[in-house]
Amino acid sequence: MQAALHALLLMTCASAQWSVRPSLDSSRFVITDTHKREVLFRGVNLCAQQWWYKADDRPISPAAYNGSCPPNHPDTYMEPPICEVDAGKAPYEHSTEANSGNDLAQIRELGFDLVRLAISWSLLEETPGDISEEYLERIEQIVGWGAEQGLAFIIDMHADFYSHALNPGAGPAYKDGAPAWAVLNSTIDKFPKYKRTVLDKVGFDWHTVAAFETFYDDQKPEGDAMGLQEHYIRAFAAVVERFNDNPAVMGFEIMNEPAPSELRVLDFSTSKLYPFYRRAIQAVTGVRDGMETCGAGDAIRDDCAFPDLGINSKKVMIFEPMAVRNQLDFSIQLSKPFTEYSNIVYAPHTYTKSFTIFDPIGGYAQSLNTAWREATKMRAGVLVTEFGGPTSDDGFDRLGNITQQQDEMLTGSTFWVWKERGGGWSLWSGNEGEEGMHQVETRRKLLSRARPRAVVGQLVRLEFDPEEKTMLMEARAEEGERGAEAGACEIYVPVDVTTDRIEVDGAVVGEAEVEVRGDGSRIVRVAVANEGGVYRVALGRGFE
Ligand SMILES: *[C@@H]1O[C@H](CO)[C@@H](O)[C@H](O)[C@H]1NC(C)=O
Ligand SMILES: *[C@@H]1O[C@H](CO)[C@@H](O)[C@H](O)[C@H]1NC(C)=O
Ligand SMILES: *[C@@H]1O[C@H](CO)[C@@H](O)[C@H](O)[C@H]1NC(C)=O
Repeated sequence: MQAALHALLLMTCASAQWSVRPSLDSSRFVITDTHKREVLFRGVNLCAQQWWYKADDRPISPAAYNGSCPPNHPDTYMEPPICEVDAGKAPYEHSTEANSGNDLAQIRELGFDLVRLAISWSLLEETPGDISEEYLERIEQIVGWGAEQGLAFIIDMHADFYSHALNPGAGPAYKDGAPAWAVLNSTIDKFPKYKRTVLDKVGFDWHTVAAFETFYDDQKPEGDAMGLQEHYIRAFAAVVERFNDNPAVMGFEIMNEPAPSELRVLDFSTSKLYPFYRRAIQAVTGVRDGMETCGAGDAIRDDCAFPDLGINSKKVMIFEPMAVRNQLDFSIQLSKPFTEYSNIVYAPHTYTKSFTIFDPIGGYAQSLNTAWREATKMRAGVLVTEFGGPTSDDGFDRLGNITQQQDEMLTGSTFWVWKERGGGWSLWSGNEGEEGMHQVETRRKLLSRARPRAVVGQLVRLEFDPEEKTMLMEARAEEGERGAEAGACEIYVPVDVTTDRIEVDGAVVGEAEVEVRGDGSRIVRVAVANEGGVYRVALGRGFE
């Protein structure tokens, strides 16, 4: 039974390969699966980058997580260790109780299908040029646990404000962002006075800006022949290479929340940020963008392509706007194509009313409205890789409005964050491993949503009511030859959505087929008629 289940799950995953293509009406770009169906993800952020300070006693070695879970130490770490103590048992036999030590099974049980796994450059390349095999194995272990639960992954090169080494309060356990050797203090110390003054005035840490400047300018650490940006791209490429054939990995996020290194922020995106993204994509895909390859030792230039590292990746490459977007809910950038690689996804973060410095004129809709416009000009899909907010009462209003907008604008997302010390912005309250640790019901209610996860044709409408637990979707398919799987629209119904009323309408063949999974969640399959047309599916409601 176990072996058969594993084989079945592996088969399902092995067929998964995502790409990006224009929607049927060419109005935007969408993520698609192997059967060219439009995919809508709902997921969560999981942190393997180690935030916080004091002691440094959390093991990296996968062996330390083999059937057990290291102690949490919430006084030291921002997030608890990622564990799956029941790994090896059949997927649905993992306990999903609070404190059961099975994060990935708990994530699946909540109704998510995507994990954005935050990793850190510090842990990846602790000494220059030396990629940590142990850390890659640890990442692989987590991805393997998730794959058993049917979860897809984005591996995210996470950093907040460049490097932990710039945080005066950071201790040895703080491994966020760039390694200490990539913080070029003597250059940072020369950062001009007038720029410091301007940044102090707007309340932005000038050390961070100065450090990012050394990064974008590819400055070399003392005695090193290779600059910082090249180091980073090669470290990123090592991750892509390791997971390029892993069917559970949907894509790679090149950098989290890149801060500007210029006072002229508009210029920054055009002259620094997007050229950096183009180079990272060139390195791992081999795409040349019509340029000659740069000479050895001179790889970070605007007039030649970064060397092809022979990985030939076809995975989805995910890129973020300059982080200032979080304060505005729109980007200060000239949006235009920057790469010839087509599997690209734009990843804004939506923290409306939590991070925005004034209420967006366009309300909660503004962030996604502008994101889709920006992305479409760059020929990219959109996935919100972070959203959320505090757990105050009006925090729930924000989350309710933000998730509603994601449905309305047919946008996939990963919630920030899975677990956090004391609860914080996470889905849980309390500390992992301590009495009282429990899921926050209001958050679960808003985040565990029924939705079409694979749509034949183009998704045009989605409504989910978190109170009534009802869903309505509408899509439009073109005429076309379809095999059994390629012709089915799949709706993912988490265990919290219990209605038995399932109605179909329009260009479909027969009734909906329902598969009940081991945790009580359901996959509803609707066969779309070969001649195409508009079709609709309703759960727990009618079509009015
Ligand atoms: C995990 O433990 C089992 C037995 O308890 C052992 O067979 C296996 O080799 C271990 N795996 C790792 C990666 O240490
Ligand atoms: C720069 O300063 C930070 C903070 O003191 C330190 O951790 C880091 O190692 C220094 N970088 C270099 C290259 O020495
Ligand atoms: C959106 O926010 C408003 C104001 O805070 C609130 O009244 C409303 O219930 C929220 N909507 C949702 C769907 O949560």
